[in-house]
Amino acid sequence: MKEDSAIIEKDNREVAREIVLELKDLNKSFEDNHVLKHFNLKLYKGENLVVMGKSGSGKSVMIKCLVGLMEADSGKITVMHKDITKLNQEALDILRADIGFLFQGSALYDSMTVRENLEFPLRRHSKKFKNNANTEALVIEALQNVGLAHAIDLMPAELSGGMQRRVALARTLILQPKIILYDEPTSGLDPITAKEIIILMQVIQKKYNTSSLIITHDVDCARVISDRMILLIDGTNYAEGTFKELSVSTDPKIMAFFKQ
Ligand SMILES: Nc1ncnc2c1ncn2[C@@H]1O[C@H](COP(=O)(O)OP(=O)(O)O)[C@@H](O)[C@H]1O
Ligand SMILES: [Mg+2]
Repeated sequence: MKEDSAIIEKDNREVAREIVLELKDLNKSFEDNHVLKHFNLKLYKGENLVVMGKSGSGKSVMIKCLVGLMEADSGKITVMHKDITKLNQEALDILRADIGFLFQGSALYDSMTVRENLEFPLRRHSKKFKNNANTEALVIEALQNVGLAHAIDLMPAELSGGMQRRVALARTLILQPKIILYDEPTSGLDPITAKEIIILMQVIQKKYNTSSLIITHDVDCARVISDRMILLIDGTNYAEGTFKELSVSTDPKIMAFFKQ
C-alpha cells in the first residue's frame, strides 16, 4: 500500500507539527439524539490534548468511533495519515496495535491474574511482537512502569481501585502504542489516587514520547495534564485553547466548566 506523505501543519503558534490523528466533520446520532454534530479534532505528535465535556455530551461516543467500536454516521477519521474507513481488517489490526485505549473504568478481566490481563493484548497483537518472544520481560517492564511489579500474580479483586487503574494503564502500555486514548482516567478515584494516575500519565508520555488524547470532565486533571484543550459542547468542538486561555473566557458556556 502506498503511504500517504506526512501531514505537517503549522498551528497558530507557527510551529510545524505532525498531525497523528484527525477527526473531520464527525456526525453520530442515535435516532433523534444527535450526539456529535460536525465535530473536529486534531492531535499533534507528542502533545497531551484534553477533550472536556459534561457527562452525556458524547465523549465516549467520540472515542469509540475513533477506535472503531462504533461507526460514525459521517465524517473522516485519519490516524497516522491513514483514513481508517478505507483500511481492510488486517491493516486496521496493525494500526490498532499502535493505539492504546484506556477504557472508562478499568475494564480488567476479573477471572484473570494481573499477568494474564497483560499477556492478553500481546497475544492479540502477536504480529507486532513476533521477534520478541520474551512475554514475561514485557509484562514485568509494563508493570514496573506503573510501580506494580509485585502485583503480577494477584487477581483484580485483590487490588484497590487505584491499583486496578494502574494495571489497566500497564495493559495499554505493553503494546508500546504511539497514541494513547484515555477515557476518564481519573473517574471514580479519590483525589490523591487521581493525582497519582495523572503523574503516571505524564511520566509515561515523557518516557515514550506518546501523543495522548485525554477525555475527562475533571478540571484538575485537565489543568495538570493538558497542553491544549477542546471543549465538547452541544455536540461540537465549541472552543479550543490552552487551559489558561479557556479558563479566563467570559463565554457563559465555557465559564460553566471552570466554576466547579
Ligand atoms: N449505544 C448507544 N445507544 C444509544 N445511545 C447511546 C449509546 N451510547 C451512547 N448513547 C448516548 O449518547 C450520548 C453521549 O454518551 P457518552 O458518549 O457515553 O457521554 P459521555 O460524554 O458521558 O462519555 C448520551 O445521550 C447517551 O445516552
Ligand atoms: Mg463517557
